[in-house]
Amino acid sequence: MKTRWYKDAVVYQIYPRSFCDSNGDGIGDLRGIISKLDYIKDLGVNAVWLSPIYKSPNDDNGYDISNYREIMEEFGTMADFEEMLEGMHARGIKLIMDLVANHTSDEHEWFVKSRSSKDDPFRDYYIWRKGRGKDGKRPPNNWTSRFGGSAWQFDEATGEWYLHLFSKKQPDLNWENPAVRREIADICNFWMEKGVDGFRCDVITYISKEEGLPNGKFNPIMCGDEHFVLGPRYHEFIRELNKNSWAKFDSYTVGESTGVTFENAPECIAEERGELDTIFGFEHMCTDMYMEVIPHKFKLPRFTAVLSKWQSLPESCWNTLFLENHDQPRSLGRFTGDFGDKRYEAATMLAVAMQMQKGTPFVYQGQEIGMVNCKFRDEDYLDVMARQVFSIAAKIPFGKAIARYCLARRARDHARTPMQWNAGANAGFTAGKPWMMLNPSYKTINVEADKKAGEKSIYAFYARLHAFRRGNEVIKCGSYRQLDKKNKSVYAYTRSHEGKTLLVLANFKNKTSKFKLPPELSSGRAVLSNYPDSALSAEVSLRPYEAAVFEINA
Ligand code: NOJ
Repeated sequence: MKTRWYKDAVVYQIYPRSFCDSNGDGIGDLRGIISKLDYIKDLGVNAVWLSPIYKSPNDDNGYDISNYREIMEEFGTMADFEEMLEGMHARGIKLIMDLVANHTSDEHEWFVKSRSSKDDPFRDYYIWRKGRGKDGKRPPNNWTSRFGGSAWQFDEATGEWYLHLFSKKQPDLNWENPAVRREIADICNFWMEKGVDGFRCDVITYISKEEGLPNGKFNPIMCGDEHFVLGPRYHEFIRELNKNSWAKFDSYTVGESTGVTFENAPECIAEERGELDTIFGFEHMCTDMYMEVIPHKFKLPRFTAVLSKWQSLPESCWNTLFLENHDQPRSLGRFTGDFGDKRYEAATMLAVAMQMQKGTPFVYQGQEIGMVNCKFRDEDYLDVMARQVFSIAAKIPFGKAIARYCLARRARDHARTPMQWNAGANAGFTAGKPWMMLNPSYKTINVEADKKAGEKSIYAFYARLHAFRRGNEVIKCGSYRQLDKKNKSVYAYTRSHEGKTLLVLANFKNKTSKFKLPPELSSGRAVLSNYPDSALSAEVSLRPYEAAVFEINA
């Protein structure tokens, strides 16, 4: 029986490598997470999404899995995992694991066998093709990897090419093969039988490729999408996986859904479809980026228009609400402009603006203390994507400068610097040498300092916000209406349910913004605010980054 518990959840995402290291090897681990379970509980979240913790050679930090049933050695053991899961459940926290099923690591035994010979029974677990041209030395088609360059890698052993939509160490699985689909369902069942509560499904919309793998329309960065994003058998594959695994448990699934639009989202998540429960829509995250990499100016109306559109999904669909994850730069600055000394106000404003909408909020580690982007030198970037960007950029005029400009704003590394626990050695993240540089901001931005900030603790504000959401039917079920859609400074909306109305005002500017309200919304009391004395009137003067929720007098 599905209880749809996720509709009452706030999910905290942990990127385990960077969260907390318990044994001084410089890499976050499961025992580190265990030591912070009370910290997570006290934040008032009731679910955790854990980025991959499976065995992996770490070409893409765990998103390249070499064994789906084993824990990565640096992260600990299966016994640690079980203890962590038990600790979460004992605190009323559900656990969602990352399911990376579009591809494996090239070190997975399936691929090792697959590449060994054309006749191996595992050959057909992956997507192998002959090259083009007389000598077969040109890739089978023009598709590009999401990390740049061709999506094909030539393999000497058998003289054929394999498809990898990510790094060449991440060969794509062939979902046309029923054995592959059975393997994935078995893996899900293995973890759910252990008590795991669901999955965040990595690039799940890429699993079905069009027959014949035709060339894509020319696009130097992302070529081929139209032949594999929500491909011809996508829905069939997901329904089958749901039936053979997820539906047997009280599970929750959220798909990382590049390419899903407002128009086709219901086909992916409407309850009656029996597919995914929710998706991460990325449209709002693209309002200040072209093609996910090239930054352009943030404009509030463009951003809120997308949020509002997604709030109008049909009743049978459920939204997710997020501004950060391990692939995105930090939201502070990005969506707030220069916040100067108003970091508390800016961070809490974003929290209110997002979390008062309808849907399940996701908070990414560090967001709850207002962590910010890092200043990297070229050699500091460790992520496979950043390295690939530099290597491609080196081949074009001014490439390096362009790469630096884009990565400073867009690199995934920003989200992956170690969690800042205190101002002491290595920010309290590790007793050893951190696997990745710390953001020097840890001297002032860290959990200990935040907790000491009293009324200006971002963590405490998040905890209050989560407590406020809990059991609040207006936030859970209420209708949504945006006010003054073209406003460049203030995001304003109401949520209404059974005669109760909440008004949400969020000033995205580091200066006072005035906002006029219609008479029926101009009297009420503040029930949550990041200033101690927010008040309502016919024309509200919102202070820098002021965000408040008002209960409107009926
Ligand atoms: C999406 C994940 O979030 C990202 O970190 C990863 O690199 C790709 N999928 C490939 O698995």
